Amino acid sequence: MDIDPATLTVGRVYQVMISIITPRPIAWVSTISPAGVCNVAPFSYFTGVGSQPPSLMISVVNKPDGTPKDTLRNIQANGEFVVNIVSHSLSQAMIETSREYPYEVNEMDLAGLHPQPSRCVQPPGIAESPVQLECRVMQIVRIGDGLLATHAVFGQIVWMRIADRVLNEAGEVDPQLLDTIGRLGGKTYTRTRDRFELW
Ligand SMILES: Cc1cc2nc3c(=O)[nH]c(=O)nc-3n(C[C@H](O)[C@H](O)[C@H](O)COP(=O)(O)O)c2cc1C
Repeated sequence: MDIDPATLTVGRVYQVMISIITPRPIAWVSTISPAGVCNVAPFSYFTGVGSQPPSLMISVVNKPDGTPKDTLRNIQANGEFVVNIVSHSLSQAMIETSREYPYEVNEMDLAGLHPQPSRCVQPPGIAESPVQLECRVMQIVRIGDGLLATHAVFGQIVWMRIADRVLNEAGEVDPQLLDTIGRLGGKTYTRTRDRFELW
């Protein structure tokens, strides 16, 4: 099958892309509004970018009406966010936070999650998550012009908190204990239990 993406609807391009670019890690992003309301949402257009400085990128598409999602609104307001890592046991809570709620709703409370005070940034992390990456915005790059424009948010990781419970005896992160999930196409997710090594 050959596809000229220019002939597809935006929705179809999205479906095809998320079914091909797999598995995608999930940044579970916590932010805070100027009024102090915590927001939490997952983003799977997410990747590490560099190590010096330690940096990552999340991609936040506008809502269909062209307005920014709450996550982007908060990041634009104060330049800070926390990326929390999603273990399998947190899947259901993660999905709860992917639904659209009014800006004034505290999604940390709503999903039964607890704030973990951050060391270097204002937004709290998610205490239930095994990893919090505290980030300060480096750049926000707007991609596209229409209502569904995307914002690639580049953040510098200024603090990493990794729970001892996911470390092995050597002090390294143990993938089995971290037990991350990844997103595939549609509603399908994957676990990280089937591993192999290459040299
Ligand atoms: C696993 C998963 C991954 C997602 N990835 C993205 C993404 O990369 N970019 C995006 O804009 N929305 C993504 N979404 C949708 C947002 O999480 C959703 O729009 C959410 O309501 C945004 O919340 P906010 O308005 O509080 O920021 C994803 C949803 C799920 C369940």
